[in-house]
Amino acid sequence: MVGVGDLRTKEDAENTLTNVELVAVGRSLIIDPHWTSKILEGKEGSIRRVLVDQDREELMVWNGIVDFLDFMMPDRLR
Ligand SMILES: Cc1cc2nc3c(=O)[nH]c(=O)nc-3n(C[C@H](O)[C@H](O)[C@H](O)COP(=O)(O)O)c2cc1C
Repeated sequence: MVGVGDLRTKEDAENTLTNVELVAVGRSLIIDPHWTSKILEGKEGSIRRVLVDQDREELMVWNGIVDFLDFMMPDRLR
């Protein structure tokens, strides 16, 4: 089984992995493509948690996706 849905932290992933074999991460990886490596390297403090307008170009998150994300996670857009 795969666990999915609003995994934001190492703790979220570890808790989910007590019940399933795999986790799938969506929005956290859009906001920070290095989410996984930062967790594995113990750099969780440097994970980007919100998507600010200034980072959209670097992350290649264009308007259509932003509109969708605005619907899904308005609290994580700035
Ligand atoms: C930009 C975007 C596009 C998605 N497209 C699909 C899709 O086409 N089909 C689908 O079943 N889920 C889609 N999802 C939902 C994700 O697969 C996932 O279930 C959801 O984002 C919850 O995981 P998360 O909280 O880690 O983002 C999409 C999510 C995002 C953010």
